[in-house]
Amino acid sequence: IADLDFIKTLPKAELHLHIEGSLEPELMFELSRRNKIEIPFSSVEEIKAAYKFHNLQSFLDIYYQGASVLIHEQDFYDLTMAYLLRCREDNVVHTEIFFDPQTHTERGIDIGVVIRGIHSALKDAESEWGISSHLILCFLRHLSEEEAITTLKAAKPYLEFIKGVGLDSSELGHPPSKFQQVFAMAKELGLERVAHAGEEGPAEYIKEALDLLDVSRIDHGVRCVEDEALIERLIDREIPLTVCPLSNTALCVYDDMSQHPILQLLERGLCVTVNADDPAYFGGYVNRNYQALSESLGMTKKQAKKLAINSFKASYISQAQQQKWA
Ligand code: ADE
Ligand code: ZN
Repeated sequence: IADLDFIKTLPKAELHLHIEGSLEPELMFELSRRNKIEIPFSSVEEIKAAYKFHNLQSFLDIYYQGASVLIHEQDFYDLTMAYLLRCREDNVVHTEIFFDPQTHTERGIDIGVVIRGIHSALKDAESEWGISSHLILCFLRHLSEEEAITTLKAAKPYLEFIKGVGLDSSELGHPPSKFQQVFAMAKELGLERVAHAGEEGPAEYIKEALDLLDVSRIDHGVRCVEDEALIERLIDREIPLTVCPLSNTALCVYDDMSQHPILQLLERGLCVTVNADDPAYFGGYVNRNYQALSESLGMTKKQAKKLAINSFKASYISQAQQQKWA
């Protein structure tokens, strides 16, 4: 069995991390004071007590509310730097982080403030600790495609800092097909493409993301287990899944970690990876996610190692750089 000490020895890449989801209650409180933004909690304990979710939407409501304390470039820097410190503790040597510009631009924050704040923390972590990174801009799927297009256009002056685009927020009722145009535009701009699919939504949404958005990676994707032909396609085409075990149990995708299919998918030959999603809300950073698999599914050292190797294979770093960590 892979224990925490062993997990720590493995260099890892993290590929599914919403930077707004790494906002710890302590920093949320500090920023709420610093920026004089009211939050409906009077203590860190009260914030933590509110983190009981029954599905994706019940989490998203609280997550968007929490993000309202982020105003200045320095706030985005502090948020990102706090996460990168956790990467260092967990032996995460490469990270590809998501951000949700629309959560901020809707509140009147300039997209440049968001991108510059996050980017400068990423650069500092690279020069100080050698942690490499990419930034992925996510469109909120509960909003319109037109608004996604406006967001992509607003990001154009900053494209040198952005590796790709993603699709997140409320999945049910907002299929990938809704965003065909904006993903085609992103492809035209030379951006990589990923999408959340098959988290709460059906396996059909995974197929749509592949067929209509031309994504090279699926975020979550666990509901592929309901479609045997799709599983075979994901194996044949080597499409990675960025799986988030603690997120899935926190949002009741599974009642218990013992039901999680990640190791079965790994054994079948899918390129599955382990990620934290929104660690401040779901009870842990990437090593805690690996540890949960050991505790509930008896993950072996060999499996843990394979998952860590997959994380580099599924990343957007060069082959040469990947060799370094293999
Ligand atoms: N935004 C942040 N975390 C998310 C998740 N797990 N699914 C969809 N949207 C999200
Ligand atoms: Zn996510």
